[in-house]
Amino acid sequence: MSDLDDIRPAWRSLKRKWEHSFHPMCSYMGMFPPSLPHYFIHRLTNEGDVVLDPFAGRGTTPLQACVDGRIGIGNDLNPMAYILNKAKVTPPPAATVRERIEELRLQYNPPTIDHVPQRIQMLYHENTLSQLVYLKQEFGLDDADFPKTILSLSPADTFITGLILGIMHGQSGQYLSVSMPNTFSMSEGYVEEYIEKEGLEPPNRNVFQKLLDRLRTIYKDGPPARRGHAFFGDARDLPSTLADAEETPDRADLVFTSPPYLKVLKYGLYNWIRLWFLNQEPDTVDQRLDDELDLEAYLEFMTDTFEVMDDVVDPDTGVAAFVIGDVDQNGETINLAREVAEEVVAPMMNFEVGRIVEDRVPDNEKVSRIWGDTKGEATEIDRILIAHRGEVTVRENPSGLKTKSLPGQQETLGSFNN
Ligand SMILES: C[S@@+](CC[C@H](N)C(=O)[O-])C[C@H]1O[C@@H](n2cnc3c(N)ncnc32)[C@H](O)[C@@H]1O
Repeated sequence: MSDLDDIRPAWRSLKRKWEHSFHPMCSYMGMFPPSLPHYFIHRLTNEGDVVLDPFAGRGTTPLQACVDGRIGIGNDLNPMAYILNKAKVTPPPAATVRERIEELRLQYNPPTIDHVPQRIQMLYHENTLSQLVYLKQEFGLDDADFPKTILSLSPADTFITGLILGIMHGQSGQYLSVSMPNTFSMSEGYVEEYIEKEGLEPPNRNVFQKLLDRLRTIYKDGPPARRGHAFFGDARDLPSTLADAEETPDRADLVFTSPPYLKVLKYGLYNWIRLWFLNQEPDTVDQRLDDELDLEAYLEFMTDTFEVMDDVVDPDTGVAAFVIGDVDQNGETINLAREVAEEVVAPMMNFEVGRIVEDRVPDNEKVSRIWGDTKGEATEIDRILIAHRGEVTVRENPSGLKTKSLPGQQETLGSFNN
């Protein structure tokens, strides 16, 4: 056994090729690479342990936990994130999803698309849009009763919805829209102007066929080794969310998460196309999420989050690792992880600061860097704040930990601070 000083950013030596094929189901802003939770899961937990991410985004941590034989739990307050988490940690067999797509294709009767907002109509060929509207109706997503609409989807329909979110817009033949970026939705006005200027015609894509093609790629690696749990809710309500669950999971042995950034990402605004399919207004989504806080409010938010961890993390051996990026504000770089360690964790009785590991992120890996308006706010340093409750057991070179350099790559060990 070794101690926390032995935790190193060895995850950088793993490249995309190694990922489980469910990970890239749909692009998500602020997502971290699966190798990051993989490393911590292997060093800090054993097979069968519970790994929780209260701000799970696209579900990187819970999926990786399930792939690594742990029980992955993902929670998020963004409906898009819930769908992706649920699809990844409780997937139906590929054959069930395929049969459901075939069934939907057989029963297809083109609905009217007159009621669809012009901003969506301009992106799709009428045949493609009719199929999307049909699927939205078949899944009951056009109902007003949110969040029941997403919570009551069958496992197959949840998986198909996850696949649809992933292919709704992009630049190649696998996507359904006019040619546009896949990572985020550009502003409505910009897209409108671009379509007009370039004379773009929406491609006539068959949604059912594209879904079957996508299913084959996404299911390439088969289902993860274990099944997990997905929840929709505010991280601060996790104790009641978990208590109300049909099957309440055990307390977490490891929390591995990246909480919302400080004033950087607007998940609603930049996903207005995908959110149309979920019948959600971008503004409503942004108002719900805690992504626009100033430093004081952010520290309060993190205090509430750590208080809640008291109820959901194992009281004797639980570890909470928070990935927190440095942020530039008014020309000053804020080491947010240190602020959280000093202002939030240190004064609390329930957790002790173990250490802060530094992870240098290459510029082009931060999706937030592409926005003109927030450029420069998210900087290239992420830090992983490790807090713990009792004695921490760091497993030494456990079997199954994939940290060997791949051909042509150097294992790079960055610098640390304590
Ligand atoms: C940095 S992202 C996490 C990305 C994730 N690690 C991944 O790989 O996709 C932060 C997440 O926090 C979620 N969030 C914001 N406020 C929340 C709240 N109060 N409760 C739960 N989730 C929240 C956002 O929807 C977003 O998905």
